[in-house]
Amino acid sequence: METMLITGANRGLGLEWVRQLDAAGWRVHATYRDPAKAEGLFAIAKKSHGRVVPHQLDVTDFTAIDRLSVTLKDEAIDVLNNNAGILPARKKFGQTDYDEWARIMRNNLFSYMKMAEAFVEQIARSRRKMILCMTSGLSSLSAAGSRGTASKFGDGKHVYRTTKCAVNMLAINLAGYLAERGVIALSVTPGWANTEMGRADLDPGYSPDDLVDPVKSVEGMRRIIATATIEDSGRLMRWDGSTLPF
Ligand SMILES: NC(=O)c1ccc[n+]([C@@H]2O[C@H](COP(=O)([O-])OP(=O)(O)OC[C@H]3O[C@@H](n4cnc5c(N)ncnc54)[C@H](OP(=O)(O)O)[C@@H]3O)[C@@H](O)[C@H]2O)c1
Repeated sequence: METMLITGANRGLGLEWVRQLDAAGWRVHATYRDPAKAEGLFAIAKKSHGRVVPHQLDVTDFTAIDRLSVTLKDEAIDVLNNNAGILPARKKFGQTDYDEWARIMRNNLFSYMKMAEAFVEQIARSRRKMILCMTSGLSSLSAAGSRGTASKFGDGKHVYRTTKCAVNMLAINLAGYLAERGVIALSVTPGWANTEMGRADLDPGYSPDDLVDPVKSVEGMRRIIATATIEDSGRLMRWDGSTLPF
């Protein structure tokens, strides 16, 4: 049985991953931070005959990450899916909140490395040996985004953009560090998806109907994990398998 460890799995794309992998017979270690917001996850877990296992985890609590690694010490984890993330409110030039920026860096970036360092043994002993880092089309240095004129550099999203741009560099480094152990590290963008985060980022003139269906997004990313090889390690990919330029 294949196993994924996924963070931020109580809603949005994370919960869709759990739904699809449960239906496909995977074992899923699915983390959430607030039980009051995890009813959907608990409901899937309850019907899964023990294959979907919820774990409470705030990814900014690195001691808790170490504790979870001890709990799962005997597991083989085919895919670590670093999915939890925050999109902060837009801030104009001159209004940057530096404490918030540091907090979001820890949330969106440092936690991805901490998860990789904490779970590398479980990943390396698995069959697929894969680390997914959820990034964004907004991470690209050479393409402002995929929304035509609505997406341009200087759009008040420098905090989010820098965390995700750094995620891409982190994945390349993970690819380098872990190549000898056969571990594949990928940055993957789920597309502008119809989740709370995606809807919170609607530009004028756009509606939720313009966003990628989370079902389609996760189906696409599942095709990536089914086909990626060590030669792909370090790549920056869109959910549909195409390459996003760095
Ligand atoms: N939706 C998009 O258009 C889009 C586009 C590009 C990239 N992405 C990326 O895709 C990933 C999933 O996005 P989404 O659309 O599913 O977002 P979402 O609907 O806002 O869900 C975010 C998830 O991350 C969790 N999370 C955030 N910080 C956490 C922390 N410190 N500890 C534990 N869990 C934490 C949230 O938990 P709570 O419920 O407790 O808050 C929630 O489960 C993110 O990395 C995001 O940046 C999304």
